[in-house]
Amino acid sequence: MTTATELLTAIRDVGTDPRRGGYSRHGFDPSELELREWFTAEAGKRGLDVEVDRNGNIWAWWGAPGPDALVTGSHLDSVPGGGAFDGPLGVVSGLAAVDVLRAKGFQPGRPLALMVFAEEEGGRFGVPCLGSRLLTGATPAAAALNLKDQSGDTFADAVKAAGLDPARIGRDEQALSRIGQFVELHVEQGRGLIDLDAPVGVATSILAHGRWRFRFSGQGNHAGATPMGSRHDPMLPASQLVLSARWAASSVDGSRATVGRIEPTPGGTNVIASTVDVWLDARAPNDGRTRSVVERITAAAKQAARDEGCELTVTEESYGDAVHFDSALRDELVTALGNVPALPTGAGHDAGILAAHVPTAMLFVRNPTGVSHAPAEHAEPADCEAGVEALAKVLEKLAHK
Ligand code: GLV
Ligand code: MN
Ligand code: MN
Ligand code: MN
Repeated sequence: MTTATELLTAIRDVGTDPRRGGYSRHGFDPSELELREWFTAEAGKRGLDVEVDRNGNIWAWWGAPGPDALVTGSHLDSVPGGGAFDGPLGVVSGLAAVDVLRAKGFQPGRPLALMVFAEEEGGRFGVPCLGSRLLTGATPAAAALNLKDQSGDTFADAVKAAGLDPARIGRDEQALSRIGQFVELHVEQGRGLIDLDAPVGVATSILAHGRWRFRFSGQGNHAGATPMGSRHDPMLPASQLVLSARWAASSVDGSRATVGRIEPTPGGTNVIASTVDVWLDARAPNDGRTRSVVERITAAAKQAARDEGCELTVTEESYGDAVHFDSALRDELVTALGNVPALPTGAGHDAGILAAHVPTAMLFVRNPTGVSHAPAEHAEPADCEAGVEALAKVLEKLAHK
C-alpha cells in the first residue's frame, strides 16, 4: 500500500521551476512525459493494463476495458509556476485507492479505469482541458492541431513527438462510449472546505468559463524620440483592459475576470510596442453573465484603442458553459461518504467537459492555504488520505453494481 503523499513525494522533483517557483509541467513537454511514464509504471506495478487513446489521454484498466466502465482520473500538467496538487492529487489518489481496494480483497463488478488527461491547464497550447475536449469533440481536431506553443511548435508537432498520429486526433466515440460514470478527485482551489471545517467535499457546479485574446496594434517607435502627443501606444488600451476587467467583474454578480498574461512585441524597455496581446480569463455562474462581463470589457477596450489610434482584434480561444454535476450521482457520493458537504467551484476540470456526456461527479480535498495555481497550494497528508479513503469508498460502492 502506498499513500497519496508518498506517491506525490516520488514526483516532487519533476518539472520544478526555479525561476517562477512551484512547477511548470505542460502537456507533452519533457516533464509531463516523464510523469506519464512514471504513472504508466505505477499502473503496471498494480497489474493495470495501460493504453493511450488517440488524443494522448492515458487509461489504466482494472479488468477488461468498458462498456459501462467506472472511471476516475485527473491530469499531471500544471499552470506556469503551479502547485504540486492541482491534477496530480487526483491521479495519485486513484492509484492509492486501487491499493486500498486490493488490500480489502475487492473485485470490481464492472470495468474500472484510472485516467490521466492531456494538457488540462492549457498552459502550453492555450486551450484548457484539451485532452477531454478532443475526446468528446468539444474542440474539433482541426482547431487543435494548429494551436502553437510559445516556441512556435504546433499541437500537431507535440503529439507527433509524443508518438501519436496527428491524423487520428479528434472526437473518439469508441473510447468515450466506454465510460459509464466519471469521478474526479481534486484539491480544492478555494476556502470552501476550510470554512466548512471538512477534509473532503463533493462538487455541485463549475462556473461558465472562457479565454479571449485581445490584440492591440499601434505604431512601434522610439521611447525617447517620440513626443507624447504623437504616439499610438498599444500598451495604453491594454492597460485600460486590465482596469476594466476588475470593474466589469465587480459589477456582475458572481463573476470573475482576470488578466494574467500580457505580451508586448517587441518587448523592449526603450521601445513603444507595436502590438500588445492581452489574455482575458472570464467566468460567471451562467453564460449570460459571462458574456455580459466580456462585452463590457470589450467595449471599454475598443474605446481605449480608438482614443489611442490603435487597432483591436478579439479572438475567443476557448469557452465552456456552466456545469451542474449529475445530482443523482452527487447524492450517491454524499450518502456513501456520510453526509460530506457539497460545494460549488470556480475552477475548471476535465470532469466539467465529461459532464455533458456521462454522469459525472467530483470530490474535493481541503486546501489549508485556500491558494491554487501558485506554489502555496497545499493539502495535508491526513486530508490526502481522507480523500483516498473517500475515493475508494465511492469506487467500491459504484463498482459493486
Ligand atoms: C483550470 O484549472 C482552470 O480552472 O483554469
Ligand atoms: Mn488548474
Ligand atoms: Mn486541475
Ligand atoms: Mn483545472
